[in-house]
Amino acid sequence: MSLILARMKPTLILYASRDGQAKHIAQTLQQHLAQQAVHSELADLKSPPNMSKSWQAIIVVASVRYGRHHAEVQQFFEHHTLLAPLAVMSVSLNARKGDGTPNGYLKKLLAQHHLQPFTAMSVAGRLDYPRYGWLDRQMMRLIMKMTDGPSDGKCCVEYTNWQHVADFADTVRRYVQQEAASAKPL
Ligand SMILES: Cc1cc2nc3c(=O)[nH]c(=O)nc-3n(C[C@H](O)[C@H](O)[C@H](O)COP(=O)(O)O)c2cc1C
Repeated sequence: MSLILARMKPTLILYASRDGQAKHIAQTLQQHLAQQAVHSELADLKSPPNMSKSWQAIIVVASVRYGRHHAEVQQFFEHHTLLAPLAVMSVSLNARKGDGTPNGYLKKLLAQHHLQPFTAMSVAGRLDYPRYGWLDRQMMRLIMKMTDGPSDGKCCVEYTNWQHVADFADTVRRYVQQEAASAKPL
């Protein structure tokens, strides 16, 4: 095992977030990986690091607003040819009713950019009415009403299933360890 760890390159975790939940999830993923001796670097997709560096894997954690992942996610996949295996986690409130299986938003993102990640998951985010501006709050109340969620404009609910996040980290950990184990010695 120590030989595998010595061969392993760092994993890059990129996040795209507006209200902090996707960032919090990305940080939690990094902690899970660190506990399993998988070294990773965390960065905001608004200013990604040098993509020509050699990574063991790249994880993208991105939240959804008004039916789409943020612009920097679209731009990242448009402008970069990924040189390492990809894992994607999409964060939305729609995912609160799912079991982690990719939902429509995530399937659309993968199809749009012809992505074939080794793992992909839709995870629920956080509803935080007091944080939103007036218009976003009204829109979110309407969406929540239509999907049987809370519409009291004062409420704040974290729907993230942290077990799903831990499972995702474990899948990544197993994948990168296998990759490192099967890599040719330098
Ligand atoms: C203005 C706004 C629009 C949103 N639009 C959607 C949406 O279309 N579908 C959905 O499932 N969730 C939607 N959400 C919920 C967010 O995806 C969820 O709150 C997520 O946790 C936000 O992640 P962040 O904190 O990283 O920005 C929206 C939230 C806001 C504030």
